[in-house]
Amino acid sequence: MSRFGSTLRSTAAALACLLTLAAAAAHAADAPAVQFADGAASFQANCSVCHGAAGTGLPSLAPPLISYPARYAASPEGRRQLAMTVLYGLFGAITVDDKHFDFKMPDFSRLDDATLAATLNFVVFDIGHAAASVKPLTAADIAAERAQPLDGAAVREHRKAVAPAAP
Ligand code: HEC
Repeated sequence: MSRFGSTLRSTAAALACLLTLAAAAAHAADAPAVQFADGAASFQANCSVCHGAAGTGLPSLAPPLISYPARYAASPEGRRQLAMTVLYGLFGAITVDDKHFDFKMPDFSRLDDATLAATLNFVVFDIGHAAASVKPLTAADIAAERAQPLDGAAVREHRKAVAPAAP
């Protein structure tokens, strides 16, 4: 390799590095601020291992959370469904955006009401971009469902009434 060749190579490498930095800086400037920072931290700690850091899901493990949870949050029964899912888990066949999943989501009842509400708000607003008219879930919403224990199969039954697609 000639000296010219290696200079060219290192110049190209430096340029590529600069472009990457510039792109990252531009991206950071464009990214909207996270609305539910506590929820974001809890999501990364408790949920991202299955649903992915951006909530896009993993085909062989867990469904995406980028559209249905924001829709659920717009109706009273849908809001109950969200609280039930994190408190009691979800078992059995479901369809999300025409894709089938038949797995078992574990329950997160060990997390307190405020943490679960914040985690769901991160999913609904930061990941799902729910409309501004949708109210954030509160610790009281979670407490109301905690008072009525269910299992993950019953959570799936209730989901039939709120999910955009059957079952
Ligand atoms: C061990 C993997 C795993 C973890 C961790 C996990 N989930 Fe899930 N989640 C699933 C699976 C699997 C399903 C679908 C279950 C089925 O197929 O019936 C699901 C379903 C859901 C649904 C229902 C989606 C719908 O369309 O009805 C929501 C909401 C949800 N998860 C939120 C969360 C949140 C919030 C956390 C963190 C507190 C979390 N999940 C942690 C695996 C996981």
